[in-house]
Order: sequence, then C-alpha cells, then structure tokens
Amino acid sequence: MSAQSASIPRHIAVIMDGNGRWAKQRGLPRIKGHEAGAESVKVLMKSAREAGVEIVTLYAFSVENWTRPQDEVSGLMNLLPRMLSKHEKILHQNETRLRAIGRLDQLPPKTRKELDRVMAATEHYTTRQLVLALSYGGRAEITDAMKSIAEKVKSGELSPEDIEDQTISDHLYAADLPDPDLMIRTSGEHRLSNFLLWQLSYAEFYFAPEFWPDFREEAFGKALTEYGRRQRRFGGVNAC
Ligand code: FPP
Repeated sequence: MSAQSASIPRHIAVIMDGNGRWAKQRGLPRIKGHEAGAESVKVLMKSAREAGVEIVTLYAFSVENWTRPQDEVSGLMNLLPRMLSKHEKILHQNETRLRAIGRLDQLPPKTRKELDRVMAATEHYTTRQLVLALSYGGRAEITDAMKSIAEKVKSGELSPEDIEDQTISDHLYAADLPDPDLMIRTSGEHRLSNFLLWQLSYAEFYFAPEFWPDFREEAFGKALTEYGRRQRRFGGVNAC
C-alpha cells in the first residue's frame, strides 16, 4: 500500500523497549541488544514507508537514561552517529527528513555533530519524517515550553489570558508535527515512561510482547491491523 488511508496512522511513536533483556537472554552485553535494536529501526522504517505512514518518532534516549552505566551510555552515544552515517543513504532514497527532539545540548559533541549534519542534509524532504527523541523527557519538554511562554509573558509579547492548549503545542520541540495517532511499546511493559506526554493525549496505545530487537515486519503488521480495528472518538461520540 502506498497512499495513506484513514485506517493507517499518519504518525507513529515508538518506545523501543527490551534491548537489554534480549541481550541478557543470549548472554550478550547490553550494547549488542541496542545494535540488534538498530536493525529493527531499519526494518520499521521500511515497513512504515510501505504502509503509507508519514512520520515515525522513536524514543531513542530519555533524560533518565543518562543514569545508566557509563559504558552503556557511551555505547549508545557512539551507536547513533555510526547508524546515521551508515544509513544516511536510505534516508535520501526514501526522501525522509531526520529530526530530533529533546535536550540536544546534553549530547556529546561528536553525536550532536553527526546528528546536525544529517538533519541539515535531509531538511528539504517533506514526504516522510524520522524523529529521534534524544535526551528527551515529556516533563522536560513541557517545562521548556512553559519557560519560553513565561519569557513571552514577561516581555509583554503574550498575555496570560491568551494562553490556550494550542499555545503549549506551539512551544514544543517540534511544534509543527501532528500528534501521533498510534503509540507502540514493545517488551510487554505498559507504561508511558515520560514519552510525549502532551502529544499522546488522544493516541491509540498498542503494547507488543516482543523485545524491540524481535519486533520486525510481522509484529508491525499486527500493530497496524489492531489500529485499523479501533474507533477513535477524540472525546466525542460515534457518527453512527
Ligand atoms: C530500551 O531498551 C532502549 C533504549 C534505551 C535505546 C534504544 C536505542 C536503540 C534501539 C539504538 C538505535 C537507535 C537509533 C535511532 C539508531 P532497554 O535497554 O531499556 O531494555 P531493557 O528494558 O530490556 O533493559
């Protein structure tokens, strides 16, 4: 399927959970689980494109993940630029714009540099977007939005009476993105873990039992089928 239909989500957000447990089951270091998880990202992007999904947002590193063991943090921070340079060609072939959300100034310079480079090289694409949440936290994002709104109120650019839902949406890291329609979390956990707290208000949630490295075409197909069965009402009632 190439065109997007009503039963295909336009924007999917993914919590790629279970890399560590996948590695542990095999007696491997955790970073091997993240490497296998990076392969699932590639598969997901292909399947999402084929299904007609326009935007994929991945929870790649949370603000809380900095407290993990130093070797795992540096392993992930090295994996990201390696993956980006290795797969940049695929982004171009599929006319996919790479973006990032989060407190990006906390990333190591090498990681940030490669991220900035690939984001700049793909920023003209409008068909599809891959959004990486890096050093990201939903509460941090809302806090950062509140700070910029407060600055505007302080300077007189905005008055408190004019603050609406949309004002908050307009001050998020990637304000132009539509809210995700579907949130997928793997590994059987049923938590939001501080991911896109504002944006997921009306999203459908899908929890997959597989660890992220095992979440491939078939598992994604099941998520899409389940999404197609759901009736979204956005707080209203059914038309029929
Ligand atoms: C959660 O599993 C996963 C992460 C914290 C990192 C996700 C990163 C990747 C898949 C690397 C590649 C990403 C890109 C975008 C190139 P976990 O470590 O919490 O697993 P556990 O719950 O089993 O310990």
